[in-house]
Amino acid sequence: MGGGPAVSLALFGAEHLGGLAALAEDPLVLRFTRFPDPLPEGFAVSWLARYDAGRRTGSMEGFAILADGDFAGIAVAPEIDRSRGVVELGYAVTPELRGRGVATAALNHLTSWALEQQQLQRAELLIGAANVASKRVAEKCGYRYDHTVPNVQVKPGRIEDAEHWIREQIVNSS
Ligand SMILES: CC(C)(COP(=O)(O)OP(=O)(O)OC[C@H]1O[C@@H](n2cnc3c(N)ncnc32)[C@H](O)[C@@H]1OP(=O)(O)O)[C@@H](O)C(=O)NCCC(=O)NCCS
Repeated sequence: MGGGPAVSLALFGAEHLGGLAALAEDPLVLRFTRFPDPLPEGFAVSWLARYDAGRRTGSMEGFAILADGDFAGIAVAPEIDRSRGVVELGYAVTPELRGRGVATAALNHLTSWALEQQQLQRAELLIGAANVASKRVAEKCGYRYDHTVPNVQVKPGRIEDAEHWIREQIVNSS
């Protein structure tokens, strides 16, 4: 199955703060994720605190992506709506490790976590229309394009079309 690294997810914790702080400086991450730009002082610590709080209420979850055991990015559920059974998912990979199947493996794990372990009905990805690599990852993980929301204010001063990609739980009818 190819020569990519072994990819796993670990619940995000203080040991991943250094990796997150470095990842958040990457121009593509700033462009295509909702990380604030410019990054506020102490961003990584407050990000972890927010995800810790969300984990306690069941409304958010955050994982570190590990490639051969080392920090390689983040895989997150920034909004879990358990009453509707809908979850938004997102991901970002450390620049040096891109193009080796890390995001694809991580999104497959994250999707199994959401639809199988958490028994949510639908996983959604919000992908900037210009983010060709992320759309390819979505496609390879069995997501389908659903619709585009035009002119979304992603962050102050940046307006982009956002594509919604969806994958639903497969219900076994037997
Ligand atoms: C998008 C991102 C997560 C992809 O991570 P990755 O580990 O490199 O992804 P993978 O190696 O699993 O797969 C990337 C796929 O996109 C393709 N790809 C990469 N750049 C591309 C480009 N500019 N145009 C077309 N396809 C591209 C690769 O060829 C590969 O597809 P293939 O296996 O069919 O060849 C990474 O680039 C990233 O962190 N970007 C910044 C943050 C971000 O955009 N997150 C997603 C927010 S929705």
